[in-house]
Amino acid sequence: MGWNPFNAFRLNYDENTIIRSAEALVALKLAGAGYNYVNLDDGWWLRRDAGGIEIRTNLFPSALLPDGTTSFRPLTDRMHAMGLKAGIYTDIGFNTCSQHWDKDSPNLPAGSVAQREVGLMDHGKQDGTAFFAKWGFDYVKVDACGVADYGPDQIDVRSGRYRAVPPLIVRGRPSASKPKELAALYGRFANSVRSVAGSSPIIAICAWGEADVNDWAGRYGQTWRTSSDIRATWTSMLHNFDSAAPRALFAGPGRWNDPDLLEIGNGEFDDSHLTEARAHMSMWAIIAAPLMLSYDLTRASPEIHKIAGNREVIAINQDPAGNQGVILSQEGDREVIVKQLAHREAKAVALINRGNQPQNIEVALTDLGFLPSANFRIRDVWTATEEQATGTIVRRTLAPHETALLVVQGTTIDANRMTPMEMPARIKVEEPGFKPVDRGGDRPWIAGRIGYHPDGRSITTNGEFDKQAIGVAAGSRLRIALSREFRKVRLTPAADGYEIYGDGKRVRALQMAGSHIELDVAAIENLDLIAPASASANDFVWGQVEFIL
Ligand code: GLA
Repeated sequence: MGWNPFNAFRLNYDENTIIRSAEALVALKLAGAGYNYVNLDDGWWLRRDAGGIEIRTNLFPSALLPDGTTSFRPLTDRMHAMGLKAGIYTDIGFNTCSQHWDKDSPNLPAGSVAQREVGLMDHGKQDGTAFFAKWGFDYVKVDACGVADYGPDQIDVRSGRYRAVPPLIVRGRPSASKPKELAALYGRFANSVRSVAGSSPIIAICAWGEADVNDWAGRYGQTWRTSSDIRATWTSMLHNFDSAAPRALFAGPGRWNDPDLLEIGNGEFDDSHLTEARAHMSMWAIIAAPLMLSYDLTRASPEIHKIAGNREVIAINQDPAGNQGVILSQEGDREVIVKQLAHREAKAVALINRGNQPQNIEVALTDLGFLPSANFRIRDVWTATEEQATGTIVRRTLAPHETALLVVQGTTIDANRMTPMEMPARIKVEEPGFKPVDRGGDRPWIAGRIGYHPDGRSITTNGEFDKQAIGVAAGSRLRIALSREFRKVRLTPAADGYEIYGDGKRVRALQMAGSHIELDVAAIENLDLIAPASASANDFVWGQVEFIL
């Protein structure tokens, strides 16, 4: 959680903007609510020379040291003295996003071709040492334009302004991108950071969901962007939300899907759009996304600060179990997402109206794993009201673009049994398998999901949506962190040839289509389920995976 200048200021910010924003975070009690990272984005650099990167001191005067060299230490010291943390920004290539996308900015790197190469390429260790060991940052956002936008046919490359880099990312075209090479670059940087930094800073990977980054970034960073840049429109916000929401089986403590900075306070989420601002906040909260504010903290209204600072919403986002909410249903403009909280009998539920018409949205208590017809409690975290209820259904009428964010407490149907929905943070797509070449359309291909096939079709059993099934791509490996806390796992595989390993030892490899298997797992830390590989068929289903306590 924190603040980043990009959505409010793009490249037009300076030290003063950063300090005023940090002070505002503290004064507005947003820092106290958890927003404690104050980050820089693109635009802080002047040039690279033999000693490393020189900071643009016309924007960051405190960076100019008496000996004429530059350092962000005075700035990070100031942030740390305020009880905050500090983040910096770089690129995995030679050059950066602004050098391609903001060509008219006065804040671009200056000098020769080599001096303007301020990205990490060939300098990971040197820059990592500067960022963490020397300057004292706690976080780095690592962008990827340097390996996407400097192909030999680019105008500025042909003119000799920038060095040519054959792209590892071709936007929108996974088959033309080079995920392995890209992963290797991020891996190398992550390793050098580990070797130079005293602590373990956060590495935020910013490759916009391209080159299969969402499938491997968790090995090298703590957050990874799942889509292109958010804009302050309802449509863009939904698009970015949808890029992350189906990926619950990739997230968990220390590894998070990042649908991008928040647009609360900006454009279609400003003072005249408080319903939309609350909805946007609810959606990021329920899918356990990073909460990076990016509005002008010194100008926004108290209503906006109140939405950003809602402690109950933040508690849902930051719940220690680390579960990303799972999509329970999606029909037209109505969507329901459920996030199991650390307290077994409490679930956060987002009832989302994505459209322009009012909607009635409901969810059955049994779908939340609660006994119907028993007493239950609903806490609405936006209205801060609590309701005792009986019945079988939670129902709300929602205004256009409204999201109701609820914490529902009930009686668990079977306290000894857990479904995948109740523990997505423990289930991880460790190795994504088969990928179709250049998936098109709006639906992203996702190697492992609860209730859905990788291509986005829902899984049905006996004609009903099977929210307990897990769909995986052929050849994928799921790792389930059982931590010796369960007695048994019950599986109903839907095809032959699955393999099961417990702590690296093969447990079963049977012809098991349609059969039920019960495994004794009391002594097992990690259970690996591997779907059969296939060159053509592209998805398999583990029906009804259940965990017995
Ligand atoms: C890319 C990133 C953005 C921002 C800009 C800065 O577009 O995705 O988040 O950092 O670069 O130039």
